[in-house]
Amino acid sequence: MSEELKIYNPDPAFVAQANVSGMAAYEALCKEAEEDYEGYWGRLAKELISWQTPFTQVLDESEAPFFKWFADGKLNASYNCLDRNVERGLGDKTAIIFEADGGEVTKVTYSELLAKTCQIANGLKSIGVKKGDRVVIYIAMSVDGVAAMQACARIGATHSVVFGGFSAQSLRDRINDTGAVAVITADCQVRGGKKLPLKGIVDEALALGGCESVQKVLVVNRANAAVTMQEGRDVWMADVADSQPTTCEPEWVEAEHPLFLLYTSGSTGKPKGVQHSTGGYLLHAALTTKWTFDLKDNDVFWCTADIGWVTGHSYITYGPLALGGTEIVFEGVPTYPDAGRFWKMIQDHKVSVFYTAPTAIRSLIKAAEANDAVHPKSYDLSSLRILGSVGEPINPAAWEWYHQHVGGGRCPIVDTFWQTETGGHMITPLPGVTPLVPGSCTLPFPGIQFAVVDEVGNDMPWGKGGILVCKKPWPSMIRTIWGDPERFKKSYYPEDFKGKYYLAGDGAIRDEKTGYFTITGRIDDVLNVSGHRMGTMEIESALVSCTELVAEAAVVGRPDDTTGEAVVAFVVLKRPRPTGDEAKAIAKLLRDHVGKEIGPIAKPKDIRFGDNLPKTRSGKIMRRLLRSIAKGEAITQDTSTLENPAILDQLAENL
Ligand code: PRX
Repeated sequence: MSEELKIYNPDPAFVAQANVSGMAAYEALCKEAEEDYEGYWGRLAKELISWQTPFTQVLDESEAPFFKWFADGKLNASYNCLDRNVERGLGDKTAIIFEADGGEVTKVTYSELLAKTCQIANGLKSIGVKKGDRVVIYIAMSVDGVAAMQACARIGATHSVVFGGFSAQSLRDRINDTGAVAVITADCQVRGGKKLPLKGIVDEALALGGCESVQKVLVVNRANAAVTMQEGRDVWMADVADSQPTTCEPEWVEAEHPLFLLYTSGSTGKPKGVQHSTGGYLLHAALTTKWTFDLKDNDVFWCTADIGWVTGHSYITYGPLALGGTEIVFEGVPTYPDAGRFWKMIQDHKVSVFYTAPTAIRSLIKAAEANDAVHPKSYDLSSLRILGSVGEPINPAAWEWYHQHVGGGRCPIVDTFWQTETGGHMITPLPGVTPLVPGSCTLPFPGIQFAVVDEVGNDMPWGKGGILVCKKPWPSMIRTIWGDPERFKKSYYPEDFKGKYYLAGDGAIRDEKTGYFTITGRIDDVLNVSGHRMGTMEIESALVSCTELVAEAAVVGRPDDTTGEAVVAFVVLKRPRPTGDEAKAIAKLLRDHVGKEIGPIAKPKDIRFGDNLPKTRSGKIMRRLLRSIAKGEAITQDTSTLENPAILDQLAENL
């Protein structure tokens, strides 16, 4: 990589005004953390967070890897994001600029957001929700969604937001696993000019059974869509919240109190409920917003992620609000009414910090190249000062386009590497510090001890690829997998590293000269399609759950120009191998089945049918061969251990 390094140095004028200003400042922070790790995090926790009861201990390692941070301190996340800003005179400042799918704009001040949050919080209390209860939120991007999360935090209930694109079955599994007492949803969501049901899917999920813990379903009225309200169980949010007082004393919780559970995919089994804390999580959400996005009082910040993903938690609901920032919440999609929507919104709202995913950029490049009217050059994007990328590797070509056409060649791009489990940025440039190299997430955030090691935990020399680990616990780390501490230990603190290092699940390589990190992709059976994380096993289980048709299925990923990776499924049916139109019809049926089981994001792009799957004599599916077939590569690997080599040609046949 070194030879072809193209380096973009930060502009001195930018450096001069930055929250972390210059490489020497970055190095000083890293040194401070190295010399006194607890002192460093303790100092920041005092500076960024308001504590109702101050903590006396920073890190408790006595039950490692179940680390505790600031454990005897008490705080409230919603107090920190709302009341505190009103108290410092920001009551009339715009907290959220909401733009609906159809373009209507609503501005909400800090005082208004606080009042709304308190009303929902009082409403939740009035139906019996209390500290420690779980509340599932299944709602689209909205002020109500953010306020509902804040309201849960306010009363000490643990929220678990389920992305609105997940199916009834996935929603049911999550409700069941959390044991939620209430579900907050809306009649529908509006995306791309269409109303898509939400409440109806909640009804379906609850009807599947196993959700007996749910006592109430609160329904926000988004667009007067027809819904069936079940007497005694379902109530309109307006009826519960609108007449409530606009003040609500925050529930002061211990720093380790679970703020939220968020489900994500691993290489085995069902999605796992990643449990985050209140104190450590909020600290890192606020700190990374301040340093990585250099957030200032007059910035207009826009993170395009959905609140159903961790990015929406840290960089919509918590980080920017904890700093008293102004942010955009966008209901719609980047391509409606046309693919210039993002650029028009940046122009209209004078967005200064813009954070999105490579998939979105790649699809907008295609559209812009085909039509000048939706090209960024047709809009005034001069308000932008920082661009961000998240969720998957950004290829250098997309990086260059983003830099040149969206950022006008002047905005630093922060390529932020992190995960649902890490709570906030782990490896990322800081815009007033780091010389940028397209395609590299550069250096660890100050204090974060990421490293590239071999299978037993020895450091790899720079220039040699290996396994990405974190050598020290950090405040916003996953605390456990909800209800399954053993799985937490096995997944993240495996014995290979003597239970001492956090295993990220990604491979990485450090540049020979600069030590910059480049993520080389997952080292487990996790796929990343359009920045959405999915386990191959989940999709395989969904396919074989079509019991009348499917005997066996194997799923692999294939590189894709737009979505990063695409899902390819190899399927053995319980009937003779279909060809032609029949094969196409069955493939469609299976795709729809996966959509119903998991959600449309998991639908395989390509399905191949075979009489069998390539297996070793001991019966193990040879996935590396399937990956080659999926890519359309000639098989060069050794196939001598294969039970049935003839199967490869069959599986290579496209529908
Ligand atoms: O493989 C890495 C990839 O996304 C995974 C985490 O996915 P998730 O938990 O859904 O969180 C996404 C939003 C933080 C990682 O294990 N990933 C995330 N960011 C990057 C990335 N890969 C390369 N570069 C990134 N900047």
